[in-house]
Amino acid sequence: MIYSDYAAVYDQTGQIRHSILTANYLPDLLRRHSVDGRRLLDLACGTGTFAIIQAEAAWQVIGLDRSPAMLAVAERKAARAGVAVEWIEGDLRAVMLPAPVDLATCWYDSLNYLLREEEVELAFRSIYAALAPNGLLCCDVATEYFLRNYWSGVEVYEDADYIQVMQSAYDGNDCSTLVLTGWHRRSVDHWERFREVHVERGYPRSFWLESLLVAGFVVEGCYDCFTLQAPNERSLRLCWVARKPAR
Ligand SMILES: C[S@@+](CC[C@H](N)C(=O)[O-])C[C@H]1O[C@@H](n2cnc3c(N)ncnc32)[C@H](O)[C@@H]1O
Repeated sequence: MIYSDYAAVYDQTGQIRHSILTANYLPDLLRRHSVDGRRLLDLACGTGTFAIIQAEAAWQVIGLDRSPAMLAVAERKAARAGVAVEWIEGDLRAVMLPAPVDLATCWYDSLNYLLREEEVELAFRSIYAALAPNGLLCCDVATEYFLRNYWSGVEVYEDADYIQVMQSAYDGNDCSTLVLTGWHRRSVDHWERFREVHVERGYPRSFWLESLLVAGFVVEGCYDCFTLQAPNERSLRLCWVARKPAR
């Protein structure tokens, strides 16, 4: 399963950066797209950085992810930060909550892991059901342009106790595959190797829009992510803002 051995090093290898950026971006989005209450569901919350920052900002936060290893890291970080977040192991295509939320977020390629169109539609319907009337969804997705042009080549990370090689390639068919090989140092001369294969799919903007509309959302914005500008053909990620109608 992906995001298992990788969970322990996800933050330290630089992936934490995206959560810092989205945490800084959220207030800009909410100034333009208001939210009534303080219940927030962060879908595919990963190691919990974004969820914890929002809990510190007085949101009542639920973090949902399907990887137990990512959630275990998130739980430890929340305990260290002294904040209460409810962590749920679950699938964003079948969200089940005891009570609806006012804001749902889903950041950093998480929706690109859905490789079939039907799965995206299922996810949006499930998120829609989890929201209270007038609730808001903010999510970002990697563009086809990004996957085609930036998910290619080899990247190496190295520190005293961990080495990682990421090899990625576009398959010419909307999908990019990243093979992640990591070595954890377990003792002075013993390294343990793991391998995860991550596949992401880029969908056209029109498909994301249509899927949100079909789920029942009113789409309030589509931005070149981290700005409030309209996307262009070289945008690396799109940020969608969509609302469940009040009635
Ligand atoms: C690139 S990470 C993003 C984590 C976090 N949102 C962030 O910004 O750092 C993708 C996350 O999506 C989760 N994920 C992928 N597919 C999922 C699904 N169907 N349901 C729930 N979580 C999923 C993975 O377990 C992983 O934690």
